[in-house]
Amino acid sequence: MPNRTPSRLAVALALCFSPILAGAEVPSKAPAQAAAPLPPGAAAPASTLRDGLQAARADRAGSPEATRAFETLAARFGTPLYVYDRATIVGQARALKGAFAPRFPKLKVFYAVKANTNGVIVSLLRDEGLGAEVVSGGELVAARRVGVPGDEIMFTSSSKRPDEIELAIRNGSVLNVDSRDELEQVSEIAGRLGKAARISFRINPGVDPHTIHQINTGISESKFGLHLEDGIALAAYARAKALPHVRITGVHCHIGSQITETSGYEATARKMLAFVRELKEKLGVTLEFVDLGGGIGIPYHDGETVMGSEDLARALKPIWDDGVKALGYEPVLWLEPGRFFVAPSGFLLARVNSVKTTPVKTFVNVDAGFETLMRPAMYQAYHRVRVVGPAGEVQKLDVAGDVCETGDILAADRMLPRPKAGDLVVILDAGAYGFSMASEYNARPLPAEVLVDGNDARVIRRRGTFDDLFRAEAAPAAPKK
Ligand SMILES: Cc1ncc(COP(=O)(O)O)c(C=O)c1O
Repeated sequence: MPNRTPSRLAVALALCFSPILAGAEVPSKAPAQAAAPLPPGAAAPASTLRDGLQAARADRAGSPEATRAFETLAARFGTPLYVYDRATIVGQARALKGAFAPRFPKLKVFYAVKANTNGVIVSLLRDEGLGAEVVSGGELVAARRVGVPGDEIMFTSSSKRPDEIELAIRNGSVLNVDSRDELEQVSEIAGRLGKAARISFRINPGVDPHTIHQINTGISESKFGLHLEDGIALAAYARAKALPHVRITGVHCHIGSQITETSGYEATARKMLAFVRELKEKLGVTLEFVDLGGGIGIPYHDGETVMGSEDLARALKPIWDDGVKALGYEPVLWLEPGRFFVAPSGFLLARVNSVKTTPVKTFVNVDAGFETLMRPAMYQAYHRVRVVGPAGEVQKLDVAGDVCETGDILAADRMLPRPKAGDLVVILDAGAYGFSMASEYNARPLPAEVLVDGNDARVIRRRGTFDDLFRAEAAPAAPKK
């Protein structure tokens, strides 16, 4: 007798394609979107939403202002939720410019869009006078969409597609060339377009800035840039000089990310300026700019002190002045940080789904995970976590993500007040490489992003929906009857 019991798969497919489930009963929105706007005409609260965010940063997540702020945001916008503080982004941009502009009169600052690609955030930094450093065609479009002029865009990538090269040339952006092979392609594409491509080369200065291995880009083994050794970079400039459709504009380096001390930058600046001098003396090439990259770190731990923008500007000033003197002309100093501007502005708000104590550990299972914030799983990055509101006794906890992977731990072995299901936890410094590295892995819709300005909060990217997950897929065949 043939087995007439339908397989589990067949049942699942049949359910998926049944008119009931394909229609009304499959929610197209991710849940927890409850809209609970503040009542109109309500008396101004004693503290603003921003006060609440700042209280959490100051380790007062249990305070009434932090509780009110995060409960309000979670009720209005759902969780997991990225929350950015506008004033912090603007303040960081002004701090960097305030440190560098008085010392380096010829200065241009770019925002490395990869840190956070949201157009509203890119536009905030555009309004502070920043250009955009991009690493893909999509990021170039992100910058152009919010009105960053094409000629204030720097396109850096060690692996550019021909259509991306063309896009950069058409927009008049600087192409930061990473290999001799790429140089020939740029020249060929620019020739075909009847244009001259503005280029610089990314240099690998062979400097170790002492940061996390995966974000250490300036060491000799890294895939990025042209080495100074054996005249490799010099020969690339000589070749570029000979190409009719290429216009040499500058030189670039970026030695890594989350750099917390000045020594790596100092060594790099010396090497770069010596190379710029070599270009002038050996090839007669003068440059419009010298780009010393991004990478300025922020403190991720309580009580941690790291190099600030003021420390960096002060350390670079004498090296720059000496280099420029020896050079006989002054190029514009370009900088392109990403994390520094946006990381401290960001909070990832998550709700506790359950708490489980095993013989070994206690896990706080939250509704965010490495699909929402990749950094802890990807390179064991540390983010401070706060439990919002009054919570239980302090004990050692792991904050575990909602992805079906053992490695999805957002914070391990932390001394935290024990929360219970339904409580909120907030992860600090999540404004950079948070949402921009998020994915829909495990078929979880992307979180919403909200910008807080004083006591206002507005959605700057709506929450993903189940429909969003499947929109780009081809329609599957209907199940066989
Ligand atoms: C070429 C380049 N410039 C700038 C940045 C920005 O780095 P950060 O966000 O650490 O400032 C990066 C990031 O890795 C980068 O690859």
